[in-house]
Amino acid sequence: MRVLITGADGQLGCELQRVLSGQSLVLGIWPEFDLLKAEAERFILDARPDVVVHAGAYTDVEKAEQEPDLAMAVNAEGTERVARATAKAGARLIAISTDYVFDGQKRSPYEETDCTNPLNAYGRSKLEGERRALAHCPNTLIVRTSWLYGLHGKNFVKTILRLAGEQSELRVVGDQRGSPTHAGDLASALARVLGTDLRGVAHATGSSDCTWQEFASAIVALAGFSVMVRPITTEEAHRAALRPPYTVLANRVLAKAGIVLPHWHEALARFMNEVRAGAPAERV
Ligand SMILES: NC(=O)c1ccc[n+]([C@@H]2O[C@H](COP(=O)([O-])OP(=O)(O)OC[C@H]3O[C@@H](n4cnc5c(N)ncnc54)[C@H](OP(=O)(O)O)[C@@H]3O)[C@@H](O)[C@H]2O)c1
Repeated sequence: MRVLITGADGQLGCELQRVLSGQSLVLGIWPEFDLLKAEAERFILDARPDVVVHAGAYTDVEKAEQEPDLAMAVNAEGTERVARATAKAGARLIAISTDYVFDGQKRSPYEETDCTNPLNAYGRSKLEGERRALAHCPNTLIVRTSWLYGLHGKNFVKTILRLAGEQSELRVVGDQRGSPTHAGDLASALARVLGTDLRGVAHATGSSDCTWQEFASAIVALAGFSVMVRPITTEEAHRAALRPPYTVLANRVLAKAGIVLPHWHEALARFMNEVRAGAPAERV
């Protein structure tokens, strides 16, 4: 199978490259592949893919509040470009999206069919990207994930590990609940999705849930630091972007296809071994 990966050098893109190394891969990497440019369509058409996994995105949630037009251009217009070209190529589109399409007012896991209502500029741009993908490519699966971390790039786990080495006490938000997702586990799940004919929307996150403070406490404990991790409120964190308080996603569509991601804590423990070893550890 010929698989084109956009954002192939991002944290999910790198894991996709590893997991899909047995396939014929075409890597869309900025600036040669730029979602903001019309040439992105030509790049996809010339590659003649069977599947496009669209992992490229504007992902800075805080910065998107200052440059919402750029976030919209990359995540909505860029995704439309990818969707149009994928449809023209007669290929399938798997477009990665986010839990931040929801407003977090529920207190039970969000289903794929639940109403969306993003609270911040990033979430609005990703939701518009979802709509355009579904509108412009008939064979599309939107895969929403959350709280992603991996060996490559910046993420919460790496930030906590750095801060735990510098400070005696960490203050971390304790009133937002979600599901941490190991990028390698998501890539493995996506590899299995390639063997299905799923279309529409699917959720794909680590199993079970926690708050950011509980996540940080687990990171610190697994790394062997004796640092206090105190919960603070969202208000006390003074972030520019509004954050939904609850974005646990029910992974119902994937579960029906027999695809279940590991528990977030088990995945985190495996990740810590990967960090120590400098390479992905064996899946449990
Ligand atoms: N990270 C999370 O917690 C999280 C949560 C939910 C959903 N998601 C979604 O999961 C997907 C993968 O996220 P990730 O964490 O792997 O993000 P990432 O590490 O930021 O990777 C995104 C990739 O897109 C590239 N990119 C940015 N602007 C581009 C442009 N104009 N043209 C082409 N490529 C461009 C980036 O290149 P540069 O590095 O050169 O900028 C990077 O390689 C995204 O769709 C994201 O919205 C992420």
